[in-house]
Amino acid sequence: MTEEQIKELIVKALEMRKFSYTPYSHFNVGAALLATNGNIYTGCNIENASFTPTNCAERTAFFKAVSEGVKEFQAIAIVGGPAESDQLEYCSPCGVCRQVMSEFCNDSFVIICAKNINEYRTYSLPEILPDRFGPKDLI
Ligand code: THU
Repeated sequence: MTEEQIKELIVKALEMRKFSYTPYSHFNVGAALLATNGNIYTGCNIENASFTPTNCAERTAFFKAVSEGVKEFQAIAIVGGPAESDQLEYCSPCGVCRQVMSEFCNDSFVIICAKNINEYRTYSLPEILPDRFGPKDLI
């Protein structure tokens, strides 16, 4: 991943926060997922009055890609914080989203958690989901 690619993903993730549907938590998350083919799939979180159907930004991005036949990925940028705030803290992907990443991504997949385009941290999948249960366990 180049610095330029990382910044592009963060900018796209930040833009997605304006589409978050968060009448309950008022916590807006945006994600931008870079596929191996170079396409970028974006996502926001979408909440529900029944709570459990809520979909995180990361999963929205993955499901948009997979539903279009794209299943190989290089990296994802994640930004999140209170809806009205522009000064974000780091937002770490939830356990369910980590498991979804695990389904489609290999050990070199990069997770970028950003406050803004200049402040970000990167992680590998094994770092954030060690000893993962995945497709290999069912073959
Ligand atoms: N959320 C995400 O979209 N991604 C994360 O990584 C953490 C949590 C959403 C779910 C819910 O809409 C809100 O943030 C508060 O949990």
